[in-house]
Amino acid sequence: MDKTKVAATKNITSLSQETRVFPPSKEFSKRAHIRSMSEYRKLYNESIKSPEKFWAKQAKNEVVWFAPWKKVLQWKAPHAKWFVGGKLNVSYNCLDKHLNTPTANKAALIWEGEPASPGRAGEERVFTYKQLHREVCLFANVLKRNGIKKGDRIIIYLPMIPEAAIAMLACTRIGAIHSVVFGGFSAQSVADRVFDCQAKMVITSDGGFRRGSIVPLKKNVDEALAIKDAQGVSLTKTIEKVIVVRRANNDIHIEEGRDVWWHRELEYVNANCPAEKMDSEAPLFILYTSGSTGKPKGILHTTGGYLLGAKMTSKYVFDLQETDVYWCTADIGWVTGHSYVVYGPLANGATSLMYEGAPNFPEPDRFWRIIEKYGVTILYTAPTAIRAFMKWGVEWPKKHNLTSLRLLGSVGEPINPEAWIWYHEVIGGKRCPIVDTWWQTETGGIMISPLPGATPTKPGTATLPFFGIVPEVVDDQGKAVPKNCGGKLVIRKPWPNMLRGIWGDPKRFVETYWSEVKGSYFTGDGCRQDKDGYFWIVGRIDDVLNVAGHRIGTAEVESAMVSNLKVAEAAAVGRPDELKGQALVVFVTLKTGVQASQSLREELRNHVGKEIGAVAKPDDIRFAEALPKTRSGKIMRRLLKQIASGIEIKGDTTTLEDLSVLAKLSSSDE
Ligand code: PRX
Repeated sequence: MDKTKVAATKNITSLSQETRVFPPSKEFSKRAHIRSMSEYRKLYNESIKSPEKFWAKQAKNEVVWFAPWKKVLQWKAPHAKWFVGGKLNVSYNCLDKHLNTPTANKAALIWEGEPASPGRAGEERVFTYKQLHREVCLFANVLKRNGIKKGDRIIIYLPMIPEAAIAMLACTRIGAIHSVVFGGFSAQSVADRVFDCQAKMVITSDGGFRRGSIVPLKKNVDEALAIKDAQGVSLTKTIEKVIVVRRANNDIHIEEGRDVWWHRELEYVNANCPAEKMDSEAPLFILYTSGSTGKPKGILHTTGGYLLGAKMTSKYVFDLQETDVYWCTADIGWVTGHSYVVYGPLANGATSLMYEGAPNFPEPDRFWRIIEKYGVTILYTAPTAIRAFMKWGVEWPKKHNLTSLRLLGSVGEPINPEAWIWYHEVIGGKRCPIVDTWWQTETGGIMISPLPGATPTKPGTATLPFFGIVPEVVDDQGKAVPKNCGGKLVIRKPWPNMLRGIWGDPKRFVETYWSEVKGSYFTGDGCRQDKDGYFWIVGRIDDVLNVAGHRIGTAEVESAMVSNLKVAEAAAVGRPDELKGQALVVFVTLKTGVQASQSLREELRNHVGKEIGAVAKPDDIRFAEALPKTRSGKIMRRLLKQIASGIEIKGDTTTLEDLSVLAKLSSSDE
């Protein structure tokens, strides 16, 4: 075990001194879907003892199928097929299914735009299920009209506006595969993703509002579509059409023959668009996420299993009830936005709220204003946001009536107990259970989480596995470690919404997830189980950072950095950060003759921003004459992490090639 893991384990030991336990209140449990630990255990045991029987029953109850499956699970490790031969459609399950029920006229999506003046609420759009169904059918016909067929890939690069959800659902309606790219990513990232999945279309908007300014999305797309590879070949030559939503009214270029306006296209179509009968294993979407190499992985999810997972976890973890106004604050560009803004809640007939902008625009009470205005009952957000709220002060939430809230959720990184308690007391008024949900882009849905009417929670742990999920903490040999010992988190058994592969890279799929521990899915996370069996996640053990809940591959940042001509070498590491969980620090050595300066530091930050996107901009760039390396030439990240965190260098430095490098790194900043 390397030193970082030891440090991490120590960290958990201290967390485990967290002895506070919060059982659900009787009032909450009384009306919850799962009302006690014995009910949870009974169902969990069933799901583990006879998984196929369990999942078959759930799939029958929760999902509408056009044709039944022939086999529940076909498992040839690491390849799973769920509900083999079954036919269904995700948009049908999210929309049509509700049409002849009282849900038809219930709000499916409540949307609030960002622009607002202090003390005022923003623009509002509400879609009932019937209205959303109509919009999705119309837009699905627009896709067809523009040449999109089953299996085609479409990049969605939109702000948090209803059209983002409509576009996703329209894709699933006709069997096109969407790949949503977060609006904060750069032109280069868009181009790389278009190239990787050979997309035929981009759906974007003129611009998006963010903290009062306009993000020029269409301009980024234009730039992306002009990018060529080293041989001068266009990276994006597969793109035939760009559909543009008018949102920010900023000036944009329209390329005749390629670019069309969303609202104009609607004039040519009707709202009759029957849902395609899709195979259970038909690809549903690709979502790119960072890994430990420079190239993001296109995580592939398929239809039947994904939908079942998203639906069931939404229902049980958020305890969705008929009257809830549910708000997941994640952007659609992340998996949380897929499973818990769009597919999960809509499949359950819930009311899902979407907010376009920043939590502190125009003032730091925007979230609380929204909760009061719409009577939000369930709030699902990220620890990094909670820590920002703590910093901004309790006066902002205190200005608003938050008593509509009944349940709080957290996702994206371990939530530190201090933030947990603040969330519980200040936002939840001590009455709302908190579900700390552990999962990943790859897992498709929540894997480890309390069930709010059953599980006693402890600040800082995601507690226990969801139905059908078999997590285990193991050592380097893949053997289970005793309780309270740190190790690697693996999942032992296949589950319906697990990833099916990495788009176009079957080898990497096997290497990344299935080679570390034979026969098990390797999560890349370090973990420990306490005496009650609760799972405490300590963070990544590979070269992936979690900055403000976003996964950033150190290799990606390094390769972006060295693509700048002034840079000779770069090493990216994380250091603990009060707000973001981890901050990104990059050690850079410059080419001979290049002078280190503050302006160069800014230039390099912007360079990485341009290559990857603002989310990956380093928090700190440290210029160094050399990087500490082993005699075999490997950068010693462990040492760099310690330097970046300002801790005294501990541990073995005997393999270090040039000891003087360390002294220089520690003492100099320029
Ligand atoms: O390290 C874990 C952390 O986020 C990683 C997954 O990131 P991503 O695929 O971007 O998905 C984020 C939203 C699901 C995990 O490997 N993580 C996520 N949720 C938690 C967490 N770590 C601790 N506790 C959580 N609740």
